[in-house]
Amino acid sequence: MCGIVGYMGDQQAYPILINGLHRLEYRGYDSAGVALLNGHGLHVHKCQGKVSDLEKHVEGRDLGGTVGMGHTRWATHGPPNDINAHPHVSSSGDIALIHNGIIENYAAIKEELAHRGHLFRSDTDTEVLVQLIDDIRRSEGVDLPEAVRLALNSVVGAYAIVVLDQRDPNLMVAARKSSPLVIGIGEHGDHFIASDATPIVEHTKNVVYLEDGEIAVIERGKGLKIRNIKNQDKTPFIQELEMHLEALEKGGYDHFMLKEIHEQPRSIRDSMRGRLNLVKGEVVLGGIKDHEEKFVKAKRILIVGCGTSWHAGLVGEYLLEDLARISVEVEYASEFRYRDPIVDEDDIVIAISQSGETADTLAAIELAKGRGATIIGICNVVGSSIARVTHAGSYTHAGPEIGVASTKAFTAQVTVLTLMALMIGQKRGTITGSRFFRLLNELDAVPEKVEKVLRNEAQIRYIADIYKDATNALYLGRGFSFPVALEGALKLKEISYVHAEGYPAAEMKHGPIALIDEEMPVFVIATKGGSYEKVVSNIQEVKARKGKVIAICTEGDTVVRDLADHVIEIPDAPDPLVPLLSVIPLQLISYHIAVMRGCNVDQPRNLAKSVTVE
Ligand code: F6R
Repeated sequence: MCGIVGYMGDQQAYPILINGLHRLEYRGYDSAGVALLNGHGLHVHKCQGKVSDLEKHVEGRDLGGTVGMGHTRWATHGPPNDINAHPHVSSSGDIALIHNGIIENYAAIKEELAHRGHLFRSDTDTEVLVQLIDDIRRSEGVDLPEAVRLALNSVVGAYAIVVLDQRDPNLMVAARKSSPLVIGIGEHGDHFIASDATPIVEHTKNVVYLEDGEIAVIERGKGLKIRNIKNQDKTPFIQELEMHLEALEKGGYDHFMLKEIHEQPRSIRDSMRGRLNLVKGEVVLGGIKDHEEKFVKAKRILIVGCGTSWHAGLVGEYLLEDLARISVEVEYASEFRYRDPIVDEDDIVIAISQSGETADTLAAIELAKGRGATIIGICNVVGSSIARVTHAGSYTHAGPEIGVASTKAFTAQVTVLTLMALMIGQKRGTITGSRFFRLLNELDAVPEKVEKVLRNEAQIRYIADIYKDATNALYLGRGFSFPVALEGALKLKEISYVHAEGYPAAEMKHGPIALIDEEMPVFVIATKGGSYEKVVSNIQEVKARKGKVIAICTEGDTVVRDLADHVIEIPDAPDPLVPLLSVIPLQLISYHIAVMRGCNVDQPRNLAKSVTVE
């Protein structure tokens, strides 16, 4: 939440910052701003709205300067408006600061600073931090990095910040705690700062991921120095980025979400590459190899995550219980962290996160780690906080996911969980050899089957057109398809603002059935296998009450075809692999309904992709 960028070098900063803000806009898009330093002091331009509104706002203004920073906001403290937009400037006008995170003790600090004569203009917690840094710099006569360090020792909360002082135009200071920050080191001594590597990759592949509690000091001509808030020097660890620029472009699609839905044959394949070996008949997950023994002996696995990642975790529960016969509990990270859960050193906790930055998931990991559990990460963003704090893990290789609604990350997470369950099941001897080999072959065939489902897009768009004006929708599924029903409902509500609920199909008659009438579209995942007959009965129950049934069924199924109002066929697959196929039409239907309703698909209202606040 909130994207931040910074630049110092020989080039003009503004175009680099604006381009970077466009790349980071998925992190928040209710206001944006830049601060530039040139020979005539500090220039701050900011306004409510998107980065494109900022571009209009600055037309005709002085945008010169080779040092600067920019921010795109997702409001926490104070409504989105021009004043609350970042950067925030101290009352003296000397220091400007951008921030991603929350300063929890801001009220107490604000009161103290107000007594000391500081004037506050905004409702934000961030303004408190910039005033505090200025106050310390003046009252203690210290330089900017030291003032930042002392100030950060007084604050409680999460932050990634960049600070500029017009009295030191050749200095840029950045720091992080619980919010991400990456520093790019260019070939010609340029330095780039960003919330993630996407704004940096087109300038340099050499990056340093700042650790929690570290402060980066970038000085023109002298380069990057890192110290921590205890004032100990740290050696910057430079890594090479593996990201490619094309992955950050829409590549001819109207929206990132549509591109990402269509990328799934590739992203599922990439998440299996080098792990599923059909010739040897084995699954190797290098990242968790050292913990195999622990998995084999495990009595229980806990899975934590939020939103779509939590839904992937639910599929993981069905997979691990079915194939590896280990008891699994799936927890919302936000509940787990505040519940004093029973966790000990025998437990394995799998933390699932696309961004690897979700604050609640990070806190859940810290809690479980503190109690001795082994933490395994399933993350998409390489080098992200969760990937770094876990004991081991397996990356999903979905590539950057930019659309705010998660699509290819979900199927990549489920792919990794499937591989994990197969690998553990084989090692534990809980899956027969023939089933194991059949599932390996079937899993290998999934990308091709996803391609086939995607070829049904015209029919899916036709169905979307019929139901685009619905105000409510129900999603039903059983067994492996229950989490997919939840995910389908989440996709619809978050991007098209249509109220939607996912339910285990059999639960319908315990309440939701009261909602069904001729206005209610009911999406039912009714594929062959598992509880097929029971789901067919559920469809009949909906039809008896005049509900409209849109069924996701197995190719050639005439029973469901005769009952339902519409069917979307998917290729036959064993139950554990059905989620990888059945979720695709649900993603597409949500996408097309949202487009037809005129919604901003890639940046739905009130949302942000990386939820770095709790
Ligand atoms: C929904 C969506 C969110 C995320 C959730 C967790 O489409 O994207 O529900 O799944 O915020 O995010 P990560 O996976 O980054 O931890």
